[in-house]
Amino acid sequence: MSGIYDKNRPGALFPSADPALAKGLGQLPELLRVILPMKEKHRKLLATGVRRLSGFLTTERDNLPPDYMTRPEYLAAYLHYFMPWNIYRQARLLQGLDFSLKPGSTILDFGCGPLTFLQAMWLTRPHMHGHQYQYVGFDRSEPALKAGQKIFMGLAGEEGNGWKIQTEKNLGAARKSGPADMIVAGNFINELNAPRSAPGEEVSAEDVLLQRWSNLLKPDAAILVIEPGTRSSSKQLVRLRQSALATGWKVVAPCPHAGECAMPGNRGGAWCHFNFSPVDIPEWLFKFSRKVKLPKERASLSFLLLTRGDTPPIKTATPPRPNKGEGVVRVISETFDLPADQMGRYGCSDRGLVLLQSPKNKMAGPQPGDLLRVTWPSKIQKDGKSKAIIVPSTSGGYKGTEE
Ligand SMILES: C[S@@+](CC[C@H](N)C(=O)[O-])C[C@H]1O[C@@H](n2cnc3c(N)ncnc32)[C@H](O)[C@@H]1O
Repeated sequence: MSGIYDKNRPGALFPSADPALAKGLGQLPELLRVILPMKEKHRKLLATGVRRLSGFLTTERDNLPPDYMTRPEYLAAYLHYFMPWNIYRQARLLQGLDFSLKPGSTILDFGCGPLTFLQAMWLTRPHMHGHQYQYVGFDRSEPALKAGQKIFMGLAGEEGNGWKIQTEKNLGAARKSGPADMIVAGNFINELNAPRSAPGEEVSAEDVLLQRWSNLLKPDAAILVIEPGTRSSSKQLVRLRQSALATGWKVVAPCPHAGECAMPGNRGGAWCHFNFSPVDIPEWLFKFSRKVKLPKERASLSFLLLTRGDTPPIKTATPPRPNKGEGVVRVISETFDLPADQMGRYGCSDRGLVLLQSPKNKMAGPQPGDLLRVTWPSKIQKDGKSKAIIVPSTSGGYKGTEE
């Protein structure tokens, strides 16, 4: 087992930043000063670039220039703001996953940008340092790939020499990389033009994408897709999940079951995504985010982890088989107030959406991403608004999965 598990929160998906992660994030400003020297007048324009790119990546998606990562203004903005936040988000998730890639394994990272996932992996997987791995990052932006390689060398130093890092501009070149152990895509599939199916075929864009990826992987393999925590990205992952379940892939996380998605993000309904407090980001990122007027009170993401085969290279804590009358629930939302001095959190179970209800208190309690074992109430009641099954903490309640 190699995730950074918190004993009090077994199965937790987003443990707080480990010191190695905090140290690596702290090194970024100095590394960027060396890798991307900027004239003072360009440095002054950094905040404007970050805000413009933020608009393109969120509300004005249709206007996102396809080559944004090759334009100096936006590449600089990405490296100083979006990449550090994405390393942080992806690393917090990685810390909660049991990653057992054997030495010699190959990872393909599609839409890797400045090798964001590679940096997050290096900073959270010290047990992989000193072993041989092959990583191939694919991105149409050559300058982003080059910057990413330099950042990796800066973070990893000579210890990183055991990892063979290759980059490719053309996604089609993945066929030449041999069957891989794992495919990763971070903040990428929402930018990808939907792959076309053959005329007359009744398949979704996600079916086509998954088929392509499946053909690039070994029989025992994993796919990890990490996307923004938006409704549209989450819905895209729900479609990918459907394609995966229909073609023999196992959905390992975040779903605690293989049934119908309890949070499909239909109009007005909740969508599956996770928010967590970024209290452990480095001081410089906190200050820079405020300076560019894009501070974050919450880091947010949606994701899907798929595996196939008996010995896949990546796992999460397996939910223990619940006793009779019990179920396993993944906590999805943060807390919100309910009437009568109660508070609630939404969770996902094989019975559908769950509303975990407890008296309002200041104790931290279960966090988004935690796996809980719940006792189903003898008489099932549903919340009028969300139609979630109400599980009060007082009726047998819920507990961490270790018990
Ligand atoms: C939002 S960035 C994500 C970068 C990185 N994975 C991260 O999480 O920070 C999306 C990346 O996908 C790349 N991209 C989008 N469409 C692509 C395509 N058709 N072929 C190759 N790269 C593509 C872009 O150049 C960009 O670097």
